[in-house]
Amino acid sequence: MADADQAAGPGGGDERAERTRAMYSRVRYPGLDPDANARYVRHRRFVYARMGLDCDTFLRDRTVLDAGCGTGEETLFLASLGPARVVGIDTSAGSLEVARASAARAGLGNVEFRLASVLEVTHFADGSFDYVSSLGCIHHTPDMPRAFDNLCRWTAPGGLLATFVYNPYGHFVYNLQCNALDLIAGQDPDARVRWARRLFDWRRDKTFYREGVAAAYDGRLYDKYGVLYRECLSLSVLLRWYRTRGVEPFGAFPMYARDMVDALMAREGMRTPPTDRRGRLAWRLHRLLPTPGPRQWTWRRRTLMQLLLLGLGCVDYGSAFRVVGRKAGGTADAAGWGR
Ligand SMILES: C[S@@+](CC[C@H](N)C(=O)[O-])C[C@H]1O[C@@H](n2cnc3c(N)ncnc32)[C@H](O)[C@@H]1O
Repeated sequence: MADADQAAGPGGGDERAERTRAMYSRVRYPGLDPDANARYVRHRRFVYARMGLDCDTFLRDRTVLDAGCGTGEETLFLASLGPARVVGIDTSAGSLEVARASAARAGLGNVEFRLASVLEVTHFADGSFDYVSSLGCIHHTPDMPRAFDNLCRWTAPGGLLATFVYNPYGHFVYNLQCNALDLIAGQDPDARVRWARRLFDWRRDKTFYREGVAAAYDGRLYDKYGVLYRECLSLSVLLRWYRTRGVEPFGAFPMYARDMVDALMAREGMRTPPTDRRGRLAWRLHRLLPTPGPRQWTWRRRTLMQLLLLGLGCVDYGSAFRVVGRKAGGTADAAGWGR
């Protein structure tokens, strides 16, 4: 059986799921510019630090799963932090091809990529991984609660689970655009993207930047407008999902407006006032915005962040939260991990 057919798994018979899988296999998202890897690494290290995780130590000798890894940029970043083993899974055979080639180029021997669905719990035994990360994946599946359950089950007692999911505030305008595409173009990813180019692609430049790194232009449009499943979870619902499954959230990014500006400065390595317009704006905001306070999701903090995302979502595709939690159980070791 071909690699791609094996991955169909549950929902494989579902026409929409199959179209989504075929689309991602063709467009190979995110396909970040490998020449900008240093920036990507600076950005990631900053984000993890704000979530309370020290990249120099937190994955040392651990086992890691990156579920819905796409072209594998995050997987390879995690593999570079010294874990014993990293597994990246995705249902896109095309993306995995890119990911495997990048791993071979980087000479990383502790990482493997498998064609597998996050909806199929039997891929791994319960508690197989110390750190489970799933960024931008489960909201594109036909059964988001099941996908989330599986991530929780694969996380070891005392281990960590990090997710990044669409947020309804950040994606308010985007959801309206997608509703319009449902009407005009139905469930055909190519037709949706053709219409999206005409109606919403107001930038029409040749480069999309994801967290400051150039991403495949078409990939970005397909990921946003061609994809046929795109659930949104509000932060309070997401936190509840964590807690009701015995995973206590302890970190998030972004949590303050200043988090975003600081991340931009960190990835650009800004130490002196930059000369470009965007850089100058970031430099000013960095000085104006208050220093981040306690990193807990109080009602006020949630509301302010959601308002900010709503504003950002009016000028861009919107943003989402990354939340990390620790699963109950296990015996804490010296580094504070379970097992
Ligand atoms: C928006 S991309 C995110 C890629 C990567 N994690 C990142 O942050 O750039 C979503 C990915 O989820 C994958 N995906 C969709 N449904 C999936 C499923 N049921 N199981 C595993 N991966 C899936 C897609 O093929 C795609 O590569």
